Amino acid sequence: MPPTHESFFSYNVSRPYPYRWFTPAAVLGAVTFAALFSLLNFAANGYDLVVQTSTNPNSTMSSAGWLGRWPSYLTDKVRPTCQAATVSVGSQVFTNQTALTYTLTAIWQPSEGTNITVFSSMSYFNNVLENCTVTAIEINLEALDRTASQFGFSEWGAVVQSYILCGFYTPSGLIQFNLTQAYDYIPATISWSHLYTFLGSNFLERDKSTRASLWWGESALSNYYVYLTRMMQDIRVNATSSGEPGIRKGTIYITPGNNTARDIKSLQFFNLDYRFIVDLGYGNFEVLAPGEDPTVSKLDYGRVYPNVWIIADSLAKSAYSTVLTDLGQIAAKPNLLTNDDDLEYFSRNFSAIQRHRANADPGPETVQYDTAKSGTGPLGTTPSVISMGYICQVPRLKSTGNLLVSILVADLVFLQAIWQLFKLVTDTYLFRSRPESNQCKAGGADVELDKVDGVMSSRLDLESTSSDALVSTNKRVKGNSFF
Ligand SMILES: *[C@@H]1O[C@H](CO)[C@@H](O)[C@H](O)[C@H]1NC(C)=O
Ligand SMILES: *[C@@H]1O[C@H](CO)[C@@H](O)[C@H](O)[C@H]1NC(C)=O
Ligand SMILES: *[C@@H]1O[C@H](CO)[C@@H](O)[C@H](O)[C@H]1NC(C)=O
Ligand SMILES: *[C@@H]1O[C@H](CO)[C@@H](O)[C@H](O)[C@H]1NC(C)=O
Ligand SMILES: *[C@@H]1O[C@H](CO)[C@@H](O)[C@H](O)[C@H]1NC(C)=O
Ligand SMILES: *[C@@H]1O[C@H](CO)[C@@H](O)[C@H](O)[C@H]1NC(C)=O
Ligand SMILES: *[C@@H]1O[C@H](CO)[C@@H](O)[C@H](O)[C@H]1NC(C)=O
Ligand SMILES: *[C@@H]1O[C@H](CO)[C@@H](O)[C@H](O)[C@H]1NC(C)=O
Repeated sequence: MPPTHESFFSYNVSRPYPYRWFTPAAVLGAVTFAALFSLLNFAANGYDLVVQTSTNPNSTMSSAGWLGRWPSYLTDKVRPTCQAATVSVGSQVFTNQTALTYTLTAIWQPSEGTNITVFSSMSYFNNVLENCTVTAIEINLEALDRTASQFGFSEWGAVVQSYILCGFYTPSGLIQFNLTQAYDYIPATISWSHLYTFLGSNFLERDKSTRASLWWGESALSNYYVYLTRMMQDIRVNATSSGEPGIRKGTIYITPGNNTARDIKSLQFFNLDYRFIVDLGYGNFEVLAPGEDPTVSKLDYGRVYPNVWIIADSLAKSAYSTVLTDLGQIAAKPNLLTNDDDLEYFSRNFSAIQRHRANADPGPETVQYDTAKSGTGPLGTTPSVISMGYICQVPRLKSTGNLLVSILVADLVFLQAIWQLFKLVTDTYLFRSRPESNQCKAGGADVELDKVDGVMSSRLDLESTSSDALVSTNKRVKGNSFF
C-alpha cells in the first residue's frame, strides 16, 4: 500500500528498554528530582523582594528563617538586606530607650597620633553605643527673659545642657561623636493647658516597669528643676523686698571631678564654676563670680550668694545619671539611678519639694524611692542604640498562582534536562553492552537506526518491509514523549 502522504515532519520509532530497573528508577528519579527541584526553585524563585523600613535591621536581616539555611549562592537574591542610615551633624537623635533627645554636634575618627579625621555625617547601622561620658553640664538660669507663659509656670527657668562624648565600633574602626542634650522642664513650647499638672516634657516615652531607672531619672530631673527655680525665686524676692537689686540670669558650669570621688553622693563628685548677673538697673549690672578654686561644699559652707549650690549639684547629678542611663552606659560609672541607696538619698527631698514649688508640678514620681519602689520595676539599663529607620529589602512569598507557574516552569526545564541525561547514559550503556540493540529487527532483516544527537530516530522504509513486519513494528512504535 503506497503512502498517501509524506509530511515534512517525522516520528521516531522507539523500543522499551530491556532493563527491569529502568521503570522504577525513572519513576523514583522523577519523583525525587521533582521534589528536589521544587524545593530549590521555591528557595530561588518563590520570593519577591519588597522594600520595608525597619527599626532593627539586625533582626530583620537574621529573620530569613529557613531561607537562611540554604547556600547563599542560591538564595542571596532573596535574603533580607538593609542599608545603613546616614546621620549628619546637627541632627536630632534619640536612643531605643526613647527618653531624651540629643543633638549631634561633631563626628570624627581618631587616626594615628593626635590627628583626627572630621566627618559631616556618619554611616550608622544600629551600632551599640560605647564608652559614652558626660564631659560637662551647664545650667543656664533665666527669669524675666523667658516667655510670659514660661514665667507663668515658674518665675525662673533653667536649661540643663549636657555635653557628651560617645562612640561606636564599625568594621573600619572607631567612630566618635559629640552630643549635647538640653533639658528644660518648662520649654517655650509647653502649652498653658498644663498649668498645675505634670508636664511630661523632654522625655519621649516612659515605662515605670521596664525602664524604672529612667522613670526615676525623669522624676529626679523635674523635681530638682522645680526646686532650683523656686529657690531662685525666693532668693530674688528676698533681695528685692529688702531693696537690694535682684539676679537677672546666671550660669553654673559643672564638670566631673577627678576620678578619686567615686561616690555620687559626695560633694567632691563635680567641680563647678559660675557667673550670676545682678541687674542694678539703668543698664548697669554686676557679675558674681567664684573666688579661688570653688567647690560645692565650700560654697555651701560659706552660704555664698545665691545659695543654690547643693540643689544645682543634685540637678546636675540627675542629668548626668539620666543621660548615662539613656545611653546605656552604667558599667564602671557612678550613677544614682542604678543604686537603691543613692536613689533613696536623692529622692528623700521629693515630698518637701512637692510642698514648695511654683506652678509646674514635677513628676512622674513625687515621693521618695523607698515609698514608691514597689510600684516600679528593677533599676538598671540595657545597651543603647540610636533609633533610626532603616530601608530594608525583605523577601515576600509570591502569590499562589505566580508561585505555581514559576516553580512548574522551572521544574519542567530541570526535569527534562535530567531525563535526557538519564536516557543518554542508559543508551550509551545499552549500545555498548548489546551492540545489536541499535538495530531494528524488521522482517528478518536488521535495519540500522541512525543515531541523531543522542536521540534514537529510525528511518524505516515502510515500503520495503513486509506487511507482517509493518504490523509488528507498528505495535512497537510509541509516541516518543519524555514523561
Ligand atoms: C536597645 O537595643 C539594644 C541592642 O539591640 C538592646 O540590647 C536593648 O535591649 C534595646 N533596649 C531597649 C530598651 O529596647
Ligand atoms: C598629623 O598631621 C600633621 C599635619 O597635617 C602631619 O604633619 C603629621 O604627620 C600627622 N601625624 C600623624 C601621626 O599622622
Ligand atoms: C547590627 O549589625 C551591625 C553590622 O553587622 C553591627 O555592627 C551592629 O553592632 C549590630 N547591632 C546590634 C545591636 O547587634
Ligand atoms: C572604651 O573603653 C575601653 C577601656 O577603657 C577601651 O579599650 C575602648 O577602646 C573604649 N572604646 C571607645 C569606643 O572609646
Ligand atoms: C567633643 O567634645 C569634647 C568635650 O566637650 C571637646 O573637647 C572636643 O573638642 C569635641 N570634639 C569636636 C570635634 O568638636
Ligand atoms: C529669705 O529671707 C528670710 C528672712 O531673712 C530667710 O529666713 C530665708 O531663709 C530667706 N530665703 C532664702 C531663699 O534665702
Ligand atoms: C583629686 O581629688 C582629690 C580629693 O578631692 C585631691 O586630693 C586631688 O588633688 C585631686 N587631683 C587632681 C588631679 O585634681
Ligand atoms: C535635702 O534637703 C535637706 C534640707 O533642706 C538638705 O540639707 C539636703 O542637702 C537635701 N538633699 C539633696 C540631695 O538635695
